[in-house]
Amino acid sequence: MINLENKRIVVGITGGIAAYKTIELIRLLRKANAQVRVVLTPAAAEFVTPLTLQAISGNAVAQSLLDPQAELAMGHIELAKWADVVLIAPASADVIARLTVGMANDLLSTICLATSAPIFLAPAMNQQMYRQAITQQNLTALLSRGIQLIGPNSGEQACGDVGAGRMSEPSEIFTALCHHFTVQQDLLGIHVAITAGPTREAIDPVRYISNHSSGKMGFAIAEAFAKRGATVTLIAGPVNLTASPNIHRIDVTSAQEMWQTALESAVKNHIFIGCAAVADYRIADIADQKIKKSAEEMTLKLVKNPDIIADVAHLTEKRPFTIGFAAETQNVADYAKDKLTRKNLDMICANDVSGGQVFGQDHNALHLFWKNGEKALPQADKNTLAEALVSEIMARYRQ
Ligand SMILES: Cc1cc2nc3c(=O)[nH]c(=O)nc-3n(C[C@H](O)[C@H](O)[C@H](O)COP(=O)(O)O)c2cc1C
Repeated sequence: MINLENKRIVVGITGGIAAYKTIELIRLLRKANAQVRVVLTPAAAEFVTPLTLQAISGNAVAQSLLDPQAELAMGHIELAKWADVVLIAPASADVIARLTVGMANDLLSTICLATSAPIFLAPAMNQQMYRQAITQQNLTALLSRGIQLIGPNSGEQACGDVGAGRMSEPSEIFTALCHHFTVQQDLLGIHVAITAGPTREAIDPVRYISNHSSGKMGFAIAEAFAKRGATVTLIAGPVNLTASPNIHRIDVTSAQEMWQTALESAVKNHIFIGCAAVADYRIADIADQKIKKSAEEMTLKLVKNPDIIADVAHLTEKRPFTIGFAAETQNVADYAKDKLTRKNLDMICANDVSGGQVFGQDHNALHLFWKNGEKALPQADKNTLAEALVSEIMARYRQ
């Protein structure tokens, strides 16, 4: 049994039928020694009673923002600061909308605005309410701000409908919180090499050809592996990013340099992830001196660069589990699947970069393909996405 001793969890409950399930969740948290303080919205108090929640949580239940007694000690700020985590379960469509626009018109939304603790939402609502474009837009906006979602599940609903919108089971929400709190060092002994960022192909001593890759995704993957205890080598093209001290970073500039470093590293690692946007071509003859402006036209002859990910994936000895990225602007899935087979990869992560919607941005979505399966990782900030990706990679690697 996991021990959540000293973990302080604010459990916000909003007005939905699933509120009764949260009583069981609080019991699980208390059994694991977590400290729980419950915040009820007025609507939630119509579904579950403060008396029950006080007895189960072992603490007085907070209900009102404008409660003179509680606010003697600035109750909303006190709770916001007290929390290690704020969980809202069930999270109604209404509270999701309120959080999206930054409302602070009740105790729960004010706490969410005032806290620096991570916020988790377990949405619960009728399937039609959940499917509404506005609800989906709100959830996407919250995800991009780093708010994390637990569920919802699909299935039969209290109203008789069938579809997505059922609150995750108390045990699932409990597991997700435990996962958050346990600094997992479950990848100790796993060695991972990752390439990230663009490459620069010199034209002459002062000019080069490159691309818009920021390196953020590759760096986020490196951090996510390192956080779980893996030994990480990060082969970085020219980027403006810093990596944690426990990551072994090797800076390179050109595709050829990256190829050499990557091939040397690949054979020493269990997993190789090619996340860099490597230039397909380089200048055939790099000028020794700065090229002077003279003729009206000039032609640069390009030659093909080595294919780093394909060469790693075709290693006959000490071949690592190899994951590639496919940044495409059209037919994303088809191109990605073709690349998976052609380059002999174990997994490919496809992303749609049409309209420049990924390069340099802080959030992204990925579609993963492997030989007998696929999975979509929904839009999230790159750190959250990297954590989800690491879990998927490890699941495939361990198979
Ligand atoms: C019987 C009943 C069940 C409800 N169930 C839900 C629900 O599961 N999810 C939801 O988003 N809203 C549900 N609602 C509507 C919310 O209670 C309503 O939107 C309310 O304003 C939510 O406020 P709160 O987010 O402050 O708790 C339900 C309303 C009623 C009367």
